[in-house]
Parts: sequence; structure tokens; C-alpha cells
Amino acid sequence: MDKIVILTGAGISAESGLGTYRGPGGLWNDKRIAALATPEGFANDPETFAEFHNTRRLKHLEAQPNAAHEAIARLEAEYPGELILVTQNVDRLHERGGAQAVLHMHGVSDDMKCNVCGVKYPQPFEVPWDVAKRCDDCGGRLRPDTVWFGEMPYHMDEIQEHLATCDLFAAIGTSGNVYPAAGFVRIARHVGARTIEINLEASEVTSDFDDVIRGPASEVVPMWVDGILANVGL
Ligand code: APR
Repeated sequence: MDKIVILTGAGISAESGLGTYRGPGGLWNDKRIAALATPEGFANDPETFAEFHNTRRLKHLEAQPNAAHEAIARLEAEYPGELILVTQNVDRLHERGGAQAVLHMHGVSDDMKCNVCGVKYPQPFEVPWDVAKRCDDCGGRLRPDTVWFGEMPYHMDEIQEHLATCDLFAAIGTSGNVYPAAGFVRIARHVGARTIEINLEASEVTSDFDDVIRGPASEVVPMWVDGILANVGL
């Protein structure tokens, strides 16, 4: 039975009302915001950063999983082979859509961690982050447990092992702008896996994929999942 690795990006949550980072209305189009979401931006102005982050956390709380999140959860539940779900997203819509095992390589926005000793603190979306709260262990300033540019993503060893042993790699809703995620397709190809890009438009690495499906995730992902399950007689 084929081992499937799925990588998702902001595009899978776009139809849930969460903005993407690039393209029309992208978060990073506002250079002020882009400068804020960095270690330097946080250090220079933690209060403004906290206001920005709490606003995004509220959007994550209000957003609902869409048919794409739910279809991937159905695939995870019904597919008889191994399925690994990796996301670059810091929202929890995969989990809220029913996924049981999600590797958040860029962290999550409902956890905080100490900027000094790294101790983690759950921060439910319903509870605004108080930027004045300090680490109980070392008194350091807390920050979101999300990965900023220049920082090492989480779970990389585990993800690379899965890519090196997969038979099918699917990238869904990601522009292929940010490494190491944008390079995952090449690792999969190198071991002979089939590769498919499911995206609204061509990504920066679309030529690395064997196949593409173009369209909004909430429409095309359920159809793709139906095809996978039909192929294994489900
Ligand atoms: N359905 C499918 N794809 C969509 C949809 C949709 N409804 N809407 C947008 N897209 C596609 C866009 O065409 C684009 O290729 O989703 C992609 C979103 O790209 P980005 O905004 O760059 O988001 P992403 O690829 O997840 O960014 C990667 O960059 O800034 C960092 O840490 C941040 O995790 C993020 C990483």
C-alpha cells in the first residue's frame, strides 16, 4: 500500500476566511506586518506584535474548517496505508476538521514559549496573550510558539524520514516560496515518489511536480481524496 505524505499551506485555509501570506490580500503585502513577525520585530516592539498576534489568534478561533480539511481527515481515517500530514499553517483547522496527527512544522498560534529557555505554555485562542506575562521558570519574555524567518522549523528529521520513504507526495495550497517546505517535492522525487500539486495557481516549484490539479481546495481536495480511496477499493 502506498505511503502518502501531504504538505499543506495557507491556501487550504483561505476558504475558511484566513488570509494567505502572498498574492491578493496577502498578510506580507503589508511590509509593516512582515517586519513585525520576526525576532527583531518582536524584540523592538513586543506590544504591537502582541496586538497583531492576538488579532490573528481571534481569526483562527472564529474560522471554521472547510471541505478540504475535512476531506484530508477522512483520508487519514479511511486510507489503509500510511498517511503523514505536514502543515506550514499555525491555525488548528486540520485538527478541528478531524485530523488526528498533524505535524506543524511552523508551530501553532495557540501555544506560547519562553524566548529564553523555551518552556512552552498553552494559550487557548479564547484567552488573549498578555505580553507582560513572564516565564514561570526563568522570568524570560514569552513569544508565540511559531517559527519565524531564519528559525529552524519543527519536526524536520521526522519529516525528511517520511519523505524519503513515501510513494506519493501531495502539496496543497502552498506557493513554494519558503524552504525547506518548498524543497520537499524534490526529496520525494529523488526516491521515486509520484508528486502532485493541488493549488489555485502555479506555485514557484510547480515544474517539480509530476501532476497538478488547479482549483479551490474545498472543491478539488475532496475529489482528489475520493479518487485515492476509490483506487484502493473504498
Ligand atoms: N485553494 C487552493 N489554493 C489556494 C487557495 C484556495 N482557495 N487560495 C490561495 N491558494 C494558494 C495560492 O495560489 C498560493 O500558491 O495558496 C498558496 C498560498 O501561498 P502563501 O500565501 O505563500 O502561503 P504558504 O505557501 O503557506 O507560505 C509558506 O511562508 O510566510 C511563511 O510561515 C509562513 O507558513 C508560511 C510559509
